[in-house]
Amino acid sequence: MVNTDTSAIWQRLSQAAEATRQTQLRDMFAADRQRFSRLSVRWNDWLVDYSKQRVSADTMALLEELWQAADVAGWISRMRSGAPINHSEGRAALHIALRHPAGKPPILCQGRDVMPAVLGELAKMRDFGAQVHGRHWRGASGEPITDIVNIGIGGSDLGPRMATQALAAFHHPGLKVHYVANLDGADLATVLAHLQPRSTLFIIASKTFTTQETMQNAASARHWLVQALGEAAVARHFVAVSTNLAEVARFGIDPANTFGFWDWVGGRYSLWSAIGLPLALAVGFDNFQKMLAGAHAMDEHFFSAPPAENLPGLLALLEIWNSNFLGAETRALLPYSQSLGLLPRYLQQLEMESNGKQVDRHGAALDCSTAPVLWGEAGTNGQHAFYQLIHQGGRLLPCEFIAFKQPDFALPGHHEKLLANCFAQGEALMRGKTLDETTAELSAAGMPADQVALLAPYRSFPGNQPSTTLLLPRLDPFNLGALLALYEHKVFVESVIWDINPFDQWGVEYGKQLAGRLLPVIRGEAGGDLLDSSTAGLVAACRERD
Ligand code: F6P
Repeated sequence: MVNTDTSAIWQRLSQAAEATRQTQLRDMFAADRQRFSRLSVRWNDWLVDYSKQRVSADTMALLEELWQAADVAGWISRMRSGAPINHSEGRAALHIALRHPAGKPPILCQGRDVMPAVLGELAKMRDFGAQVHGRHWRGASGEPITDIVNIGIGGSDLGPRMATQALAAFHHPGLKVHYVANLDGADLATVLAHLQPRSTLFIIASKTFTTQETMQNAASARHWLVQALGEAAVARHFVAVSTNLAEVARFGIDPANTFGFWDWVGGRYSLWSAIGLPLALAVGFDNFQKMLAGAHAMDEHFFSAPPAENLPGLLALLEIWNSNFLGAETRALLPYSQSLGLLPRYLQQLEMESNGKQVDRHGAALDCSTAPVLWGEAGTNGQHAFYQLIHQGGRLLPCEFIAFKQPDFALPGHHEKLLANCFAQGEALMRGKTLDETTAELSAAGMPADQVALLAPYRSFPGNQPSTTLLLPRLDPFNLGALLALYEHKVFVESVIWDINPFDQWGVEYGKQLAGRLLPVIRGEAGGDLLDSSTAGLVAACRERD
């Protein structure tokens, strides 16, 4: 498929997939007592077990050939060298620079070292955090700040919001961080209802500083503040994070209180930049830096490990196998961690906005599907909601479990049960339970034969549902940074194999354009003559309320 270098391997993988369809995971385990040790990888104190995926050693060898033929190594070099690999926007994709430590070789973009600017913004974040935590940053009426409200959407919201929840065990006392994203006024109103203007600081986070949702929420927040404290208070209660410094100034935010980043940072890859400011305030700058260090450690692993041991690469190859060859349409992300409850949402943007594409790097229509639909929920909550369908719904639904050896909140009696549930789900999905096994089990429990015959079909499980389990030591800033960088690079490897640009997002533009056209119609300032009858009918029904 995709290009001539990979099409021959693609065909061999298709043949391997045919053979795999005849094989059950439980039989693969029975036939090979070493399956776990053969098909699991350790990195630092992490374990990634993919032995419950429907792969053989031969399949993995073919997938590694695909990696080679697609020239993943060449694309990694291009990314690292600051080449404009986001070709449709003429930009580099250098989020790796945001976690590159001081004192290491420079990272160049169009021949210029980006590191001085990156380190300068980090220092500015650190100083700002020290002022807020030290209660030196005062509101207009002289009070210290108790509440931070980050106003942003998409990449300017999901990363810091998710990581703030993920690192709840590390929160700085005395400061609450809130997130507002939705254009629906209910989002901002419900947050502001509990806050005092004199002790609230807003961060307006927007790469472009033109996004409708963020600009509307920022204007409403400004109005709320100005009504209470007057126009002059804006400078002490608003800071901004953006690449568009001119628009920030036009909004009235002091350039001294503006944190910058650069066009070579994609929105969904921007957590590591000043977009992470609310997170740095929530957990302290030292913890923010530990998260950067974790991401950098994963970068180094990704750049150097061979495909068979390369964690982002392995996850990418397994997803390509499941979706392009076995026909899976989705992947369930199931973190057995309450603190990682927002990870599925964050990864939905990272994976689906990056790789949900229809044309290749040359503009030609793709002849294979790209990013599968990602969905999920923190375990064990999902077990009492949708796992029924994963077990018995008859669909191929690859699952990705994430678990931690140590809890982040150590209440006695909880964590072993959580782990037992996580591992039990993977085992049940892999093994299943045949009709004969169910019949024998129910009979042995003393159930009358007629009841057994009636109930056994309901209580048996097909199994053969593939899963990967990531077992990490603990959820801390370092491991979180490494985990998120793992997914960034997984997305990149997939994009290379699919031959697509993962760094643009033209697909979100059309809806924005039409919303702009509809707004005056909804307001009654323009006629809806050119609208289709459904859209016109909806607008007319809305206006009936008047
Ligand atoms: O949804 C489109 C998008 O451009 C995302 O890629 C981005 O993260 C989000 O909007 C927010 O954009 P900005 O940070 O420019 O407000």
